[in-house]
Amino acid sequence: MEAMSKDFFEGKAEEYDREAARKRNVSNIARLMRAEAEYKKNMNIMDFGSGTGLLLSDIAPYVNKITAVDISKSMNEVLESKRENIACELEIVENDLTKEDLDGQFDAVISSMTVHHVKDVSQLFEKFYKLLPVNGTIAIADLDTEDGSFHKENTGVFHFGFDRDDILEIAKNTGFRNLKVQSASIIDKPYGKYPVFLLTGCK
Ligand SMILES: C[S@@+](CC[C@H](N)C(=O)[O-])C[C@H]1O[C@@H](n2cnc3c(N)ncnc32)[C@H](O)[C@@H]1O
Repeated sequence: MEAMSKDFFEGKAEEYDREAARKRNVSNIARLMRAEAEYKKNMNIMDFGSGTGLLLSDIAPYVNKITAVDISKSMNEVLESKRENIACELEIVENDLTKEDLDGQFDAVISSMTVHHVKDVSQLFEKFYKLLPVNGTIAIADLDTEDGSFHKENTGVFHFGFDRDDILEIAKNTGFRNLKVQSASIIDKPYGKYPVFLLTGCK
């Protein structure tokens, strides 16, 4: 597994939303996130690894503002082109959260299909923790442990999914409480089925 280059998604951004299975997966995740965490119209939340905004588009009607954080210029450009259709205030921040800091505090952190691109998950969860007030929530969706076949090539992939107990333990050790991991979706690819979990909890 190689290190993530500055814009690993450069060649993928334009076509990213064309994959029906990808869109279905993120819709399933967003539906479950909304059922688990009570997003409210006065909330400001952060989407880590927001990509083209598939997840945040579904959450936007229920919150005040979303700060979309993504390292990829090309993914951010696609998201920018959708701004008019996003149903809340939107701030796009081009930032590698593993290396840079982010100003402000958020009522909630959401993320889908991104944490497997981050080497040090404990360090990332500590960043999330610092960005939240007491009772602020996390909702993190990602692949269950897979055999390495999910991505066509694994540049920028640091984890072949996660064991649910392991990621729960990392969140617990960070200080998060009321933790729960549950099935959110199954991504159906021509060469296999890939289950996806949702981890929720609060500070
Ligand atoms: C597989 S995409 C998921 C996009 C979106 N969340 C979704 O579910 O459609 C992963 C995204 O995470 C971003 N990413 C990976 N590592 C990152 C980091 N350290 N900081 C910020 N964004 C990162 C990538 O640029 C990419 O846009």
